[in-house]
Amino acid sequence: MKIAIIGTGNVAKSLGQALSKANNEIVYGSRKPEEAKQKMPGANVQSIEEAARNSELIILAVPYEAAKEAVKEMKKAEEGKILVDVSNPLDKNWRWAKGFNESAAEEIAKHAKGAKVVKAFNTVFAENMKTGMLGQDRIATFLAGDDEQAKSTVMNLAKAIGMDPVDVGSLEKARYIEPAGLLMIELGYGKKMGTAIGLKLLRGQQPQQPSQQQQAH
Ligand SMILES: NC(=O)c1ccc[n+]([C@@H]2O[C@H](COP(=O)([O-])OP(=O)(O)OC[C@H]3O[C@@H](n4cnc5c(N)ncnc54)[C@H](OP(=O)(O)O)[C@@H]3O)[C@@H](O)[C@H]2O)c1
Repeated sequence: MKIAIIGTGNVAKSLGQALSKANNEIVYGSRKPEEAKQKMPGANVQSIEEAARNSELIILAVPYEAAKEAVKEMKKAEEGKILVDVSNPLDKNWRWAKGFNESAAEEIAKHAKGAKVVKAFNTVFAENMKTGMLGQDRIATFLAGDDEQAKSTVMNLAKAIGMDPVDVGSLEKARYIEPAGLLMIELGYGKKMGTAIGLKLLRGQQPQQPSQQQQAH
């Protein structure tokens, strides 16, 4: 797949490396492509608009506060495409920047009209995105999105880079996923556990539920 990653920071580089290893073609979108090329020798770096235009799927890997501006810079190139939002909505003091009846992903979707927005990857530390694993364990990544096909495409990408994708539901469910990103930041930095930590969803065997018919008798 031709994938544009907007941003040239920690997440962009790690996801770019992993997705490239999984046979995808990566183009980075930067505010200053010439400067970014110096920092990333060999990488295909273009302007934000060009990168978005020259791709089938776009990953927005910029700070939450810069997301609106980055979407504007795409100049509608995102229309009709999958747009993956990885952001953790933090303010300048690294505090939760949203209420609990809203999410960065829904906000971004309002700006990126016509794009199929999928929330993903925000609970995984950038360093761990390179393999998607910690030891033998696949790190869970939680996804939300209104377009089922788009979500399924991103789930396949997550699986291809080593992670365990978990579908949480419609884009509104990003309201549950985003605070989990803050939880990881608090553990990693606040509690000084470092970034070699990740979430895993345990799936036990469910006790058999009586069918509706059985229940009626
Ligand atoms: N770091 C993590 O472990 C991690 C994990 C999960 C999710 N996230 C989320 O992923 C996103 C990117 O995080 P990151 O750690 O990769 O950040 P970062 O290292 O600071 O990189 C952000 C990139 O965004 C671009 N950018 C565009 N507008 C910007 C602006 N106004 N200010 C600063 N940078 C701007 C920059 O690329 P150009 O200068 O080339 O334009 C920059 O390299 C954030 O929303 C973060 O919450 C981070």
